[in-house]
Amino acid sequence: MESKCILVGVSGGIAAYKSCELVSRLKKAGHDVHVLMTAAAEKFVGPLTFQTLSGNRVVTDLFSLDESPEVHHIALAKKADVFVIAPATANIIAKAANGIADDMLTSTFLAATCPKLVVPAMNTHMLENPATQANLETLRARGMHILESASGYLACGDTGKGRMPEASVIYDAVCSLMEHDRWLAGKKIVVTAGPTRESLDPVRFLTNHSSGKMGYALARAARDLGASVTLVTGHTNLEPPVNVEVVTVESAGDMADAVLSRFGDADAAIMAAAVADYKPADYSNQKIKKKDGDLALPLARTVDILKTCGERKKEGQKLIGFAMETQDLLKNARAKLEKKNADFIVANTLTEAGAGFGVDTNHVTILSRDGEHDLGQLSKDETARRILEFCLR
Ligand code: CTP
Repeated sequence: MESKCILVGVSGGIAAYKSCELVSRLKKAGHDVHVLMTAAAEKFVGPLTFQTLSGNRVVTDLFSLDESPEVHHIALAKKADVFVIAPATANIIAKAANGIADDMLTSTFLAATCPKLVVPAMNTHMLENPATQANLETLRARGMHILESASGYLACGDTGKGRMPEASVIYDAVCSLMEHDRWLAGKKIVVTAGPTRESLDPVRFLTNHSSGKMGYALARAARDLGASVTLVTGHTNLEPPVNVEVVTVESAGDMADAVLSRFGDADAAIMAAAVADYKPADYSNQKIKKKDGDLALPLARTVDILKTCGERKKEGQKLIGFAMETQDLLKNARAKLEKKNADFIVANTLTEAGAGFGVDTNHVTILSRDGEHDLGQLSKDETARRILEFCLR
């Protein structure tokens, strides 16, 4: 991944501790991370923590005499690719909305012209106060991005909206604002992910081990390259990607409805979901009671979403399917390419360590009518970028 210069502004709220993880994640991903703290933020987390995590001097004082003769806040503002303020208190939001520049953080924020993300974190009543809401609206109207606060228990003892989202969510939002070569701009892409659930009765369902990680990585990667992405997902434990339309579905039938109603308009569809091929033939409205002896369950076929899209595919639309196999990987995958009229099948094996269900890496081979391309074992994020590059560029 290309290294970017990310400025992380930390203002004085208890959620400042969560920004340590954000800085650490950004740094581990290879970015040049600079932390700017307000005086109030230093009451919550020491600058040394951020300095150690970012590997860069933490800037707190607008007027410090350091070794560099350059005007530090302007130099930082100029080289920033993304500026995120997390946590953003009501006070910092009010200053940003009114162009106040009375410390290092607010001065650099005012000077920066890169994409800016504001992550409010405060007491519910402070957040809901019309003054704060009006200030957020002003920032939005000026093109800044505001990350929605989470709801839950707040450090002040209240429960409600105002919690800072987890570092993973803020990290994803920062990634979505990084300037990439947006070669998928203007394209609509539908991605499926995760397992489906085929209900037997109000208590039980048939499903599989899919974690959804590969599909979510594809949705994020396509979004970062500029596409407008709809992620149709079964139930997973993953954070919904920001700036992606997320449609959560239950069964193969629901997934088919969600995908087929969008496919006509889409430039490409990528089917990474593990869709159940069979569902219980009859749904029981009441819980099925145990009886003596064994039970045989009649199953009915579900709709094959990829195959249906293959039948409806128009000139210019690209269709990418997956094949997860335990034997004869390439032979089975090639049969799916033909049978489902896909343009590509991404084949992954279940028999190799570090590939397949649940893990963060994968090893796939992309099959097309022209041949095969083995990507080797990579992170799922990197695999996603290479799949898009190979199939859609
Ligand atoms: N797929 C689908 N709808 C289904 C079943 C599968 O859209 N009802 C898609 C999957 O999302 C994947 C591809 O078809 O992109 C292949 O799925 P897979 O389960 O490997 O293959 P199947 O067609 O189900 O064949 P088999 O189970 O015999 O391997």
